[in-house]
Amino acid sequence: MKIKSANFVMSNSDISKCPKGNIPEYAFIGRSNVGKSSLINALTNKKSLAKTSGKPGKTQLINHFKINERWHLVDLPGYGYARVSKTSKKTFQKFITDYFALREQLICAFVLVDSRHDPQKIDLEFMEWLGTNGIPFNIIFTKSDKLTKHTLPTHIENYKLKMLEIWEEMPPYLITSSTNKNGCQELLDCIEEMNIKYGGF
Ligand code: GTP
Ligand code: MG
Repeated sequence: MKIKSANFVMSNSDISKCPKGNIPEYAFIGRSNVGKSSLINALTNKKSLAKTSGKPGKTQLINHFKINERWHLVDLPGYGYARVSKTSKKTFQKFITDYFALREQLICAFVLVDSRHDPQKIDLEFMEWLGTNGIPFNIIFTKSDKLTKHTLPTHIENYKLKMLEIWEEMPPYLITSSTNKNGCQELLDCIEEMNIKYGGF
């Protein structure tokens, strides 16, 4: 798939105010600072479509972007940001879980994990929650430019082994970098396939 247009639609913390209609959508979720917003910019070739930061906690709302006038990409706040207070963590969890539980237009969640890190409890638990709630998801390994050709496959294999302790099979996954754009075309093609298969295209 080629990106012809990518436009900001709206920001929300209230799922009932998210865009109406039945255009298919895909959401990026994962720990703060994992690279969700950067990946949206890399995919769309727009440097500042989604707001990014070196400090965790930049994205605070549910942000909808309309792509090629036909589908939505959704940038979500990150989880696991230690400096957020307990109360705002709860509020956060509520609107994020509401989003996943209630958003009928959601075709697939992309759970982003940093390809440099060992499997993290918070990600594994979130994926289990998605699984329990019947929400389809793919894993996206981010920042692959930060690993060497040798260490990257070892890290991915390690992650797979951990997943296989919990899951019958490894969920579909892609390896990406927003810096050198590795994996970006594959991700767009993967979304296009799902648009055709499940999105009524
Ligand atoms: P929150 O909005 O806080 O949840 O974070 P986020 O997941 O949206 O992360 P964001 O895209 O803001 O990126 C966080 C930091 O990681 C920024 O400094 C980015 O430049 C950097 N970053 C993101 N993707 C990549 C990548 O593929 N490679 C490298 N080297 N750095 C990246
Ligand atoms: Mg962000």
